[in-house]
Amino acid sequence: MTESCVVLAIETSCDETSAAVVENGRYVLSNIIASQVDLHKKFGGVVPEIASRKHLEMVIPVIHEALEASGAALSNIDVLAVTKGPGLVGALLVGVSAVKAIAFARKLPLIGVNHIEGHIYANFLEHRELNPPFVCLIVSGGHTQLVYMKDHGCYEIMGQTRDDAAGEAFDKAARALNLGYPGGPVIDKLAREGDPNKIEFPRAYLEEGSLDFSFSGVKTALLNYINSKKQKNQEIVVEDVAAGYQEAIVDVLVDKTFQAVKYKKVNVLTLAGGVAANSRLRQKLVERGEEEGVKILYPGIHLCTDNAAMIASAAFYRYKKGDIADLTLNAHARLSL
Ligand code: KG4
Ligand code: ZN
Repeated sequence: MTESCVVLAIETSCDETSAAVVENGRYVLSNIIASQVDLHKKFGGVVPEIASRKHLEMVIPVIHEALEASGAALSNIDVLAVTKGPGLVGALLVGVSAVKAIAFARKLPLIGVNHIEGHIYANFLEHRELNPPFVCLIVSGGHTQLVYMKDHGCYEIMGQTRDDAAGEAFDKAARALNLGYPGGPVIDKLAREGDPNKIEFPRAYLEEGSLDFSFSGVKTALLNYINSKKQKNQEIVVEDVAAGYQEAIVDVLVDKTFQAVKYKKVNVLTLAGGVAANSRLRQKLVERGEEEGVKILYPGIHLCTDNAAMIASAAFYRYKKGDIADLTLNAHARLSL
């Protein structure tokens, strides 16, 4: 490997077509994200078939834009990378096929990256001094996991959701309250104007010592609350509902995360995934971190949600280990770390 290693990565696992150029796993030269969120908004969630078609339309222009913005030409790229799963299989296939075609034409090494691993690596882009071991709380629209990252490519899943992901819980609540999609950012914003203690929502801690999560109960409690208010013709103070609901989710996330940190005796906690953008979650984790001497690191908001730069960072470390794919690389809807 030459001293500098430039990775071009593509991410198409859900509703963002993204391409990025990253140097040595840490330096983002470009990170282009074409969001389809407006297309899916009217359906209240991502429609897989529409997502695949839009990725097809966008993938080549986005790659061109990423190269142009980075100042690099395709001839300057050392390694290609792509998200291979988990995600929507039709959406993933667009990125996988595009990158395989370039790898074949340019005879470049190809790395298949797990999307969740990518989310963890967003932290390496933001915090260049960061190295494992640490605990990472991954909270996105599709996943909620507590992971111990022992070394590059070496993970232990300490806990995960048994039903809805945290982001899904936010999105479903927003839909029930007619707040649109995606729900997380709207609930976060409304909650700042509300009282988190006005309406008490349930917190599912599960069995003693368990680091698993369950968010279906809090969601059902919200639906029941809305229905009962409607039946009684009473006003719903959406700010208070948002604040109370968010607080219930955040409290459980914070408690279990610090339990995981304690088990592993680490003093660094990282956050990853779209819900890591939640301001209340960040605030409560940072406060608790100060009390317990744990450093809380998280990526900037643009690196929390789906993007290709995080995929490029993870790919760099996989490449260093020689974990190179061939042209049989495929997309996998389900894929664990
Ligand atoms: O990581 P991501 O972009 O896509 C997945 O891989 O799922 O995460 C998207 C999720 C959505 O559920 C969205 O509602 C949530 O992240 N989200 C938030 C916030 N910003 C995005 N949830 C809570 N608070 C936020 N500020
Ligand atoms: Zn994601």
